[in-house]
Amino acid sequence: MNDGLILEMSGISKNYRLGNNTIEVIKEINWQVHRGEWAVIVGASGSGKTTLLNMAGLLERPDRGTIRAVGYDYARFSAREAARFRNRKIGFVFQSYCLLPELNVLENTVLPALMAGTSRREAEKKARQWLDRLGLSGRLKHRAPELSGGEQQRAAIARALINDPDLLLTDEPTGNLDLHTGEEILALFRDLRDNDPDRAIIMITHNPEIARSADSAYELFDGRLRPLGA
Ligand SMILES: Nc1ncnc2c1ncn2[C@@H]1O[C@H](COP(=O)(O)OP(=O)(O)OP(=O)(O)O)[C@@H](O)[C@H]1O
Ligand SMILES: [Mg+2]
Repeated sequence: MNDGLILEMSGISKNYRLGNNTIEVIKEINWQVHRGEWAVIVGASGSGKTTLLNMAGLLERPDRGTIRAVGYDYARFSAREAARFRNRKIGFVFQSYCLLPELNVLENTVLPALMAGTSRREAEKKARQWLDRLGLSGRLKHRAPELSGGEQQRAAIARALINDPDLLLTDEPTGNLDLHTGEEILALFRDLRDNDPDRAIIMITHNPEIARSADSAYELFDGRLRPLGA
């Protein structure tokens, strides 16, 4: 896209129905993210941050509205096309990391590359580069449960980046705040933003310092996104 627009949400609404109750989680959100942008979302627990990120990552569909990313209209994708698009264009770091516990760090990291058809040799080379950049070269053979929370998060970030996605979506865990404050994670995302101008990063965080460092910061409140501090 020539204008640098990478994600565009228009009139996005999402409800969940539980019995006779309908919860309106997302209400008519319009939002644009551009290449090179590091966008942060904050908001209370239950405000719908994960729901919004899941829709950006094609893991959930909105009830109303359109989502376009990297030039594609999500509504036009079949399930198969959606899976392929996610694998190639989107890196997702889940709130609970979702590393496979029986696999070691290197094996977890290469998986999306193997799925995309990269040779094992090339996939391992790329994985080692990312894991090195993320400070995990001493943990390649550790299985996920043998890692600290911060190390698991970095392994999940390496896995999300291995296919060089256009959109990196990261859902930060609510707990273990002390693991995720600190200069380390901040420096990492600054570095990613500065070195990969074609990518956009959307990050959910509870860390006000990270929100201040990003290019744009929003609060999800009452189903709507508003600029943070406004
Ligand atoms: N599959 C579902 N079915 C029914 N309700 C759901 C479902 N997923 C989420 N919800 C509800 O939608 C609301 C928003 O959930 P969501 O997980 O997006 O919040 P969040 O902002 O990510 O919270 P947290 O900071 O705790 O991770 C919550 O009230 C939740 O209970
Ligand atoms: Mg969440």
